[in-house]
Amino acid sequence: MERLDKFLCDSGVGTRSQVKLILKAGRVTLNGASVKDPSMKVDPDTQEIALDGERLGGRQRIVVMLHKPAGYVTATEDARDKTVMELLPKKYGDVKPVGRLDKETEGLLLFTNDGDLLHRLISPKKRVPKVYYARHEGEGTPEDTEAFEKGLTLRDGTQCLPAILEPLGPGESRITVYEGKYHQVRRMMASRGMTVTYLRRESEGPLSLGNLPKGAVRELTDQEIGILTELTGAFAGK
Ligand code: URA
Repeated sequence: MERLDKFLCDSGVGTRSQVKLILKAGRVTLNGASVKDPSMKVDPDTQEIALDGERLGGRQRIVVMLHKPAGYVTATEDARDKTVMELLPKKYGDVKPVGRLDKETEGLLLFTNDGDLLHRLISPKKRVPKVYYARHEGEGTPEDTEAFEKGLTLRDGTQCLPAILEPLGPGESRITVYEGKYHQVRRMMASRGMTVTYLRRESEGPLSLGNLPKGAVRELTDQEIGILTELTGAFAGK
């Protein structure tokens, strides 16, 4: 929630004093009803605010991608560790991480200020594929791949959705999962006797790290956001 006059100024309607006059003249409506109090609290994401009948844009939806380095926790604040928020430019102040990567995991981490999109991206119902590259002890066998395909049961009894294990050679694998349980890939691999020593998320849904350098951030294009929205809206369980 924010003050109506601040929202109107931020939307480019005018200065504080101009906005006051515009409000006094009854030119602004909130969900169709005229409003005149500059200090009124409004939520531009859920309420329709219009000037002379024309809707004002409100806050812009932002989705950014970070190539997370090891050593940062995925949290908005932490008493002991550095957080991923420290890697984002200040202008992205109100975004939140989409799911989590462990402190030592590297790779693709999304952030958004769109709570609805965030929840859809992390919902196991949406089956958004996340692809990881892992280095680990041992070597994946066809039996391991089959066990992943059937859906693993972890050592504590947790049941996982079917996943894909592609052994790439001794001590290296690509793993695709469709949910985001705590330490999921590390625990899945451990349940098959393969302790993970390095983990990097390469892609999430249609998005890949590409050549984004480690520690760097980029905004998604409107087209990429559109694809993500479509992908997460198009599956069952919306
Ligand atoms: N699985 C893990 O074990 N760790 C991560 O950071 C992400 C997926």
